[in-house]
Amino acid sequence: MKFQLKTLTPAQACAEKSDALLVLLPKGDASQAKQDKASKATWPLAQTVQAAQADGDFEDKSGKTLLLYGAAGVAARLAVVMSAGKGSAKDVRDAVAAGMAALKGRSIKKLTVCLGDASQSQYLPIVMQAIADATYVYTATKGSATDDKSGRKLAQVTIGTVDSAKAKAAFAHGQALVAGQDFAKEWANRPANFATPTLLGEAAKSLAKAHAALQCEVLGPKEVDKLGMGSFASVARGSNEPLRFIVLKYMGGAKSLAPTVLIGKGVTFDTGGISLKPGASMDEMKFDMCGAASVLGTLRALAELKPKLNVIGLIPATENMPSGHATKPGDVVTAMDGQTIEVLNTDAEGRLILNDALVYAKRLKPAAVVDIATLTGACGVALGSVRAGLFSTDDALAASLQAAGERALDLAWRMPLDDEYAEGLKSNFADVANIAPPGGGAVTAAKFLERFTKTKGASGEAAFPWAHLDIAGVAWKGGKEKGATARPVGLLLEWLLAK
Ligand code: BES
Ligand code: MN
Ligand code: ZN
Repeated sequence: MKFQLKTLTPAQACAEKSDALLVLLPKGDASQAKQDKASKATWPLAQTVQAAQADGDFEDKSGKTLLLYGAAGVAARLAVVMSAGKGSAKDVRDAVAAGMAALKGRSIKKLTVCLGDASQSQYLPIVMQAIADATYVYTATKGSATDDKSGRKLAQVTIGTVDSAKAKAAFAHGQALVAGQDFAKEWANRPANFATPTLLGEAAKSLAKAHAALQCEVLGPKEVDKLGMGSFASVARGSNEPLRFIVLKYMGGAKSLAPTVLIGKGVTFDTGGISLKPGASMDEMKFDMCGAASVLGTLRALAELKPKLNVIGLIPATENMPSGHATKPGDVVTAMDGQTIEVLNTDAEGRLILNDALVYAKRLKPAAVVDIATLTGACGVALGSVRAGLFSTDDALAASLQAAGERALDLAWRMPLDDEYAEGLKSNFADVANIAPPGGGAVTAAKFLERFTKTKGASGEAAFPWAHLDIAGVAWKGGKEKGATARPVGLLLEWLLAK
């Protein structure tokens, strides 16, 4: 799917040759009249829209649409006029989503989208994301033929705005966002036998091959042992698939600029290990690498946009399997910084791979570290699928991440990190246990991670500003619409670009 930006008045957009036209009305001016006075042309749909409104058939509320077929003066067969409601980012997203829903099931290869007023172009990333989300098709393991490589029927989207020069940056952001989200979805949706740690490593390598701005290094079991990542290695022990530690760098900024490190949980399948999960919906544990996928997607987006930033993605990738080699409940393992961990539950494996990545991050002297993980079912219970859990030892970092999420409509909510939550992690046989007694499970998991963000063992100063995003509730949808959401690529990209 290709996006193209053009300077078009609503009247000119009607003359564009395409299969369908989407028109987003200016807020509070559902008649489009003002706009067309400015362009000195009559908007062919003005009368129809006014009549529909007068009849109460087309309310000026976001999500309300008017579908027209073969309208006079419109080159496209289909036209959908969309109310922008009060004109907020969310209104615009809901409007475009409703417009795309109105076109669902129709064969549309070429689409023209017309933004009714210039101020709406700040929402281009949101508009383009809504179009991409509505047309995304998973293909990797489907035999059926599709129209283009990405599986989408929609091949060409022309976006018209009255001043395209002013919309350029937002358009580029949108293009990169869509590319990054598509990539994240592609890998997150793949079944575990098509997304092993080895394949994930190769995906990162081929990303780096395709984009000169990226460099990639992939470590295997021997190198990981040498680094002393005994915690990470203990999770991989039960699997026949060798682990991978992926280091993907985007160094677009000055050499002296400290990098931002993104760590993505890459459990390509989580059976729970010896603490085996129940069978129902266990297939969804192929999504336990959504954090990793979001890191790959974000770096892919950066590679397209080329901002002056340094960002390093770290992905510990492994399966969590039961076997004769697997780690057993009660086993004690040693992390890269020497902390010993009593593994009371082998299903609390995400924290056992992220901790070693956090320790590794220290050597990169980062300006900030954000880890992204489908870490706890408890976070999904606490926040549902609306907001990700945001944990941070740094107020400024937490505030900037949350604000980026609001702007990108990729929401997060700050959760507490009181030391009392760490009480339950005490162990009689190691420095720390990997689980605490029931209650506040998302927080106790974050407290476990926090121990590995300090300069010296668990007690020192903060080695870097750190935040943790628990995306267990938001990374994928279950049920009939089962599939990855690509969250929080939108939040991360917005946050990084605001730097
Ligand atoms: N990957 C899971 C978390 C998860 C579960 C995400 C369900 C989304 C949906 C994680 O590895 C896990 O199993 N966590 C345990 C922790 C528990 C053993 C303390 C959980 O949440 O049950
Ligand atoms: Mn688990
Ligand atoms: Zn897991």
